[in-house]
Amino acid sequence: MSDKIQSVPGMSDLLPAHSSLWQVIEQMARQHFAVYGFSEIRVPLLEDTKLFARGIGEATQVVSKEMYTFTDRGGDSITLRPEGTAGVVRAYVQHSLHAQEPINKVYYLGPMFRYERPQKGRLRQFHQIGAETFGANSPTSDAEMIILVDRLVKRLGIDSYQLQINSLGSHEERKPFMEKLTQLLLGFKNQLCADCHKRLEKNPLRVFDCKNASCQALTKNAPTLLEVLGPESKQHFEAVCCQLETAGVAFVINPRIVRGLDYYEQTAFEFISDKLGSQSAFAGGGRYNRLVEELGGEPTSAVGFAIGMERLVMLVDANRETNPLFTQKNRGVFLASFDEADRIIARQLVQVLRDAGIRAEADFEPKSIKSQMRRANKQGFRFVAVIGENERLSQTVALKDLESGMQTSVAQRELVEKVKL
Ligand code: HAM
Repeated sequence: MSDKIQSVPGMSDLLPAHSSLWQVIEQMARQHFAVYGFSEIRVPLLEDTKLFARGIGEATQVVSKEMYTFTDRGGDSITLRPEGTAGVVRAYVQHSLHAQEPINKVYYLGPMFRYERPQKGRLRQFHQIGAETFGANSPTSDAEMIILVDRLVKRLGIDSYQLQINSLGSHEERKPFMEKLTQLLLGFKNQLCADCHKRLEKNPLRVFDCKNASCQALTKNAPTLLEVLGPESKQHFEAVCCQLETAGVAFVINPRIVRGLDYYEQTAFEFISDKLGSQSAFAGGGRYNRLVEELGGEPTSAVGFAIGMERLVMLVDANRETNPLFTQKNRGVFLASFDEADRIIARQLVQVLRDAGIRAEADFEPKSIKSQMRRANKQGFRFVAVIGENERLSQTVALKDLESGMQTSVAQRELVEKVKL
């Protein structure tokens, strides 16, 4: 026997037992996006490496350490997308979407790739549900994004989470602040961890993001961007907060949120849950008003978010037992039969039911009635229709409702009507 080939570390299979939960979430997300006026966009998994280097920032951990970059057969450097925003912005610019609509609201679902150390909730191929709004600078568009995520998460039955928001100010407001912060951090450079030394050189704001308790203690009293916001940024941030309050979205302001990608300014937010272990953020996003221009487009305001699907599934799974979305039994009819003559009828009825859009199944091979009943139960069928000699001759089925336990005799030609609930 040859060696078994294993999947690549950090890249998981989604097996049939779990795929239905993913489908429920994806369908609900699509419905939700439609209600909020978003249309789907699908962009390639592979892009020119330059797109991410320029879009996300050379200095970020994602670009400097985590990208799957390789040279293709034509000698071009291409990269598996580590996130969705850069590719969507590239498509927005390439197809001049702004010329068709002043405001574009798009969403996407799909795999992303980051060469991170795999652990619970952290994969090398993971999936995001994301959305971007282009062409709106109103705080209402920031609030709309955050409310959308909050409501979707609630509809999925997730209740224990926290929304943290911050304002990173504008690019101009950040410059003098960064200089001041660098000076301050240099004062106790020796006490910072090795990673923070690098952060200090590349982007001192990231020091706020350090998970190391001693670095956190050192920066506890450092000034934050929130304190130096200019009147416009301040007003914008206050308006976002006010609209969240009006919509009944609970949040805390966390001035230490800086996000791991370089394109953000103004609003930044993360949804956190303590049920996820150390990888506690299950969604994140914010405003990025300069990225479209940096990638060759007209100056365009933009705001977006992405939810990590695997982490969302972990949260939904955590209270699956009590979640009404998932306690519903699978509908449909299992056709059980005794001998070959009955099986012919069972096969015909399976087709009639399927043609009517009703889930129906019968065993391929002859099996005992007991084994057929077991399968019907295991696979979550609502009904079992038994066909034996009596039923064959009287053109009926013995229809058992597995939910109520009731059994009735039903004419074969009335079966579709009877099980259509
Ligand atoms: P992000 O915070 O890098 O933002 O990722 C969003 C979410 O993706 C995270 O909150 C997390 O749930 C999930 N995620 C990230 N890395 C992994 C991983 N290695 N394994 C499992 N899940 C992961 C973005 O990607 C931005 N593009 C969001 C955005 C859209 N901002 C504006 N528009």
